Amino acid sequence: MNISLDGKVSIITGGAAGIGLATAKLFAASGAKVVIADRNQEAAKAAVEQLDGPSAIAVHMDAGRAEDNQRMVQQARDAFGRVDILVANAGVFDGFTPLVDTTEELWDHVLRTNLKGYFLACKAALPELIKTKGNIVMTASTAGFFPQQGGLAYTVAKHGVVGLIRELAFEVASFGVRVNGVAPGGTITDLRNAIKLGQAYGDDRSLFDDPQVIEFIKATTPLQKAGRPEEVAGAIAFLASEAASHITGQILLVDGGYSVRGFQPPEQQE
Ligand SMILES: NC(=O)c1ccc[n+]([C@@H]2O[C@H](COP(=O)([O-])OP(=O)(O)OC[C@H]3O[C@@H](n4cnc5c(N)ncnc54)[C@H](O)[C@@H]3O)[C@@H](O)[C@H]2O)c1
Repeated sequence: MNISLDGKVSIITGGAAGIGLATAKLFAASGAKVVIADRNQEAAKAAVEQLDGPSAIAVHMDAGRAEDNQRMVQQARDAFGRVDILVANAGVFDGFTPLVDTTEELWDHVLRTNLKGYFLACKAALPELIKTKGNIVMTASTAGFFPQQGGLAYTVAKHGVVGLIRELAFEVASFGVRVNGVAPGGTITDLRNAIKLGQAYGDDRSLFDDPQVIEFIKATTPLQKAGRPEEVAGAIAFLASEAASHITGQILLVDGGYSVRGFQPPEQQE
């Protein structure tokens, strides 16, 4: 994709893997400087080494901590002098856990990372984005629109992200700052469960380690395939670029047509 982000300074939370890493690679290839902010320090450092662009740094942070988000923005300023783009993206999954099995701990962990983390990143970056008339792109989800795309906590968090995008877009438009989102459908990444039922944090399986999950996505997606992180990154880069200069408060569904499927299962469509 020929999108220019030449000279733009970007921060990508959760940039060490999956959609965030694909976005970091595309941003760097499009001329941006990239700050990869992630709780996985080793992966963030490895990601920086993979980038083709002029410059990138890794910031070790926990998206749910206000002081980490402030330090992330400060490190971006120290390294590159400004911030033009924030991609709020760091997230965990809830393992499709229904209400009856959702512990307070699981609820807090998912909401803290997937919603509070986005709020904290926006709050930390906004003063810099006002200076540059920059923009924010958040990774929402089809779970922000439809049930059964996650369990209870994940779906609630992603509905919250939709509200955050729309409210904040209105709030900051007069500063010339745009706020948009992408809503991926099932996309093959390293997305981790926040917590295994009955266990402490740190389930290190990816949602997509189970081949049945990928088969299910293919069966329920009109384009009959799961998404690739690069396909979501293209939408993020478009929204972050000047090509989208009159677009704010919008959420682009990158879902292989999931949102326009009707009652008929795709395998019965000719
Ligand atoms: N994969 C999908 O099917 C899908 C669909 C819709 C939305 N999303 C969303 O896309 C975003 C990216 O997820 P992904 O699928 O690329 O998963 P991923 O696991 O491949 O990448 C997520 C990154 O976030 C980081 N992270 C997690 N918790 C963090 C924290 N507290 N602080 C800092 N970094 C943290 C992880 O270390 C990882 O590098 C998430 O918000 C997710 O909800 C994913």
